[in-house]
Amino acid sequence: MTAYSKGLEGVVAAETKMSFIDGEKGVLEYVGIPIGDLAKNSTFEETVFLLWNGRLPKAAELAAFTAEIRKHYELPAGMEQRLLALPRDAKPMHMIRTMVSALSMHDQNPDANDAPSLRERAISILGRVPTLLAYFHRYRSGMPLVRPDTSLSIAENFLYMLNAARPTATMAKAMDVCLVLHADHGLNNSTFSARSVISTQSDMYSAITAAIGSLKGPLHGGANEGVMVMLNEIPSVEAAEKYVLDKLSRKDKIMGFGHRIYKSYDPRATHLKVLAKQLASDTGNMALYEKSTAIEKTMETAVAAKGIYPNVDFYSATTYHCIGLPLDLFTPVFVIARVGGWAGHVIEQMGDNRLYRPDVLYKGPHNAPYVPMAQR
Ligand code: SDX
Repeated sequence: MTAYSKGLEGVVAAETKMSFIDGEKGVLEYVGIPIGDLAKNSTFEETVFLLWNGRLPKAAELAAFTAEIRKHYELPAGMEQRLLALPRDAKPMHMIRTMVSALSMHDQNPDANDAPSLRERAISILGRVPTLLAYFHRYRSGMPLVRPDTSLSIAENFLYMLNAARPTATMAKAMDVCLVLHADHGLNNSTFSARSVISTQSDMYSAITAAIGSLKGPLHGGANEGVMVMLNEIPSVEAAEKYVLDKLSRKDKIMGFGHRIYKSYDPRATHLKVLAKQLASDTGNMALYEKSTAIEKTMETAVAAKGIYPNVDFYSATTYHCIGLPLDLFTPVFVIARVGGWAGHVIEQMGDNRLYRPDVLYKGPHNAPYVPMAQR
């Protein structure tokens, strides 16, 4: 038995060829390609192909992969009625966790977990999650659903279905870059959850559903919503420093900062900061960006020495706000992207599986007597 490590800190629990992180140097690579090069040159669909196949696609392969995903933009018969029966005030993360699970009941063979079957289900979930989110948002807002447009990419089509208008090239590109940056990230808690579930030879739907439940937590994917709440609470750029120092003095965590692996700047935050500035300037939201940089400056002085820097969630909040996403869709957008990573890890786990069953350090009593009720 290995020594107990709380929160599995420092424990190596799987092998992967998908993403590499150097937490000290602030490096993230997908199949060896630096995340910055992918953010600049790739697309979300191409990045998912890279993660799942271990190499960049040729043009024809990318076209075929993209076409396969677009076949699944539409929901299976019966799912729309199921969605429109949900309470309008359901929280989007609860909705998407529930509806991904429900997709399994519209699959003739949901438990198929050979590699080709897992890949088919992965493509199906990848294509349908944006539609589920956009449909639900329009339904809860009392607006007519907008059918998916299979001539559009995942990023463009999501914004189109959400807003009933084609996004500008800038907004579509920004959305796509965010999906690339959020696609995979080593053995984060939600990816660990997915791999743990499939390691019992369960199924893709169960693994992705478990991962969504994990990502919802504010210590994980839910932080981007917390960042936006914080930015809205701070009344002015000048008030940022005091706000942060007061929270730190109460030992409150500042959302969007810190990381279990990165003890340096999260390279994704580097790119999201540039994107946030550009979009904030384009959309008249520079106050959000300036508050963010004021928070960052205060944190740099107060806690950088402890290795606490902005993580992926800090500048994604401003970026998503400027793209026009409602606050409670910030984390669901993380789901859209991370389905790419989760599904890849599920397929990888099944390619060389061993049931996840860690040990536990028992701290309770031994040889305790069973005391009859009358004597308790
Ligand atoms: C994601 O794992 C991944 O890869 C996740 C992710 C991905 O792509 O999948 O990168 C996405 O989840 C990013 C993280 C989003 N979460 C947040 O922004 C929430 C705020 N962050 C913290 O809760 C925290 O930094 C964690 C949970 C992210 C990491 O925490 P750890 O590794 O368990 O570190 P810790 O809580 O033990 O903190 C160590 C010290 C403590 O101080 P001391 O008690 O030693 O004095 O650092 C402090 C903490 O108080 N600290 C913070 C802080 N994060 C850590 N202090 C203030 N604000 C923070 N955000």
